[in-house]
Amino acid sequence: MLSKEDNELLTRTGRGTSMGELLRRYWLPAMLSEELPAPDCTPVSLKLLGERLVAFRDTEGRTGILGAYCPHRGANLFWGRNEESGLRCVYHGWKFDVSGQCVDMPSEPASSNFREKVHTTAYPTQERGGLIWAYMGPAHLQPDMPELEWTLLPQSHVYVHKRIQHCNYLQNVEGEIDSAHVSYLHKEFNKENEGLRSIRGQGLLQQQTDSTPHFSVRETDYGLLIGARRELDAESYYWRVTQFLMPTYTMIPTEPGFSVSFTGAVPIDDENMWGYTITWHPDRPLTQEEIDGIESWKGVYTERLRHRPGAPANVLVHGNQRDPRAGPSGAGGPAGSDHQPHPRAPRHHGPGSHRHAAAPDQNGPRPPERRGAHGDDSWRGLSRAVGGVRRTAR
Ligand code: FES
Ligand SMILES: [Fe+2]
Repeated sequence: MLSKEDNELLTRTGRGTSMGELLRRYWLPAMLSEELPAPDCTPVSLKLLGERLVAFRDTEGRTGILGAYCPHRGANLFWGRNEESGLRCVYHGWKFDVSGQCVDMPSEPASSNFREKVHTTAYPTQERGGLIWAYMGPAHLQPDMPELEWTLLPQSHVYVHKRIQHCNYLQNVEGEIDSAHVSYLHKEFNKENEGLRSIRGQGLLQQQTDSTPHFSVRETDYGLLIGARRELDAESYYWRVTQFLMPTYTMIPTEPGFSVSFTGAVPIDDENMWGYTITWHPDRPLTQEEIDGIESWKGVYTERLRHRPGAPANVLVHGNQRDPRAGPSGAGGPAGSDHQPHPRAPRHHGPGSHRHAAAPDQNGPRPPERRGAHGDDSWRGLSRAVGGVRRTAR
């Protein structure tokens, strides 16, 4: 059990907390690109790490994430007019570009240069892999974007999904690295659902009967490699190897050759989070069968809400979008559709490398201990570099 102090240390993410400052050193998924579907579309209210923000896409298609409250008198910029390369506060008309610079101040005389001195909170953004990413940390410490495989692939290879969870981000991360629960929660009890698994490559999981995995953990440059070894049959072990990637990401173990899945837990505040699940195949487009499996919503993917007449097109994000008819800049708004399109990664950076290329060593003798030990030979038979699912000799 964690002490109360350690629990506080790990779960608090506001500015000035230890974990909050750590998370602010990373580029974080802020929202789906499709939530800002077009230049000058309706702004989106969002909250990340306890900070109230507003996101918009300007006339040139650039994305901006600003502090929600206007530095003049504190009106919420969510109600602003998104027009002519900036977001204009609805109260006195101060206008801010995506960098947070005030570019127009209609309440001042034309001769005034006061606007040049006004800058509001703005976080750098980048779009990659069908997501808008934000960096909320010190400018001089801004890192490069993470080159996660799915962010470097053609859009046809990737499925991107986001859901809200009413829990602390750490509760989600804990579940993602807890390989023991898959023996029960992710076991398919209903044979009719066999063909509609939302995460493919789990055939060995369905065969195994050993629900008491032996865990081994390795530190890596990117985080942790977490091996869970089960007995499969008289000759073989069944390994599930989960990659934990800093700061809050994991990769779900899958058998070689199948699509791969990533999860990310991004704190909204300390009681709520966005859960991102991404599935991709590094070598080819996802098949319709794979997409149908995801959209059966029978596994780790939550159902996307469908469009209701009169509602904003993007209702999957559970009420963080303004009704486009309600505000001064919302006339027209994004056109609704009856179906949430499959989000596509916007850029091509060339083919990614297959993460499952390393073949396991099949020759290791059975370790002397069967349970509970975390010594070196607990990894025997398995390459330390691989993730995913492997079958190794006992
Ligand atoms: S409160 Fe925003 S311009 Fe005055
Ligand atoms: Fe799970």
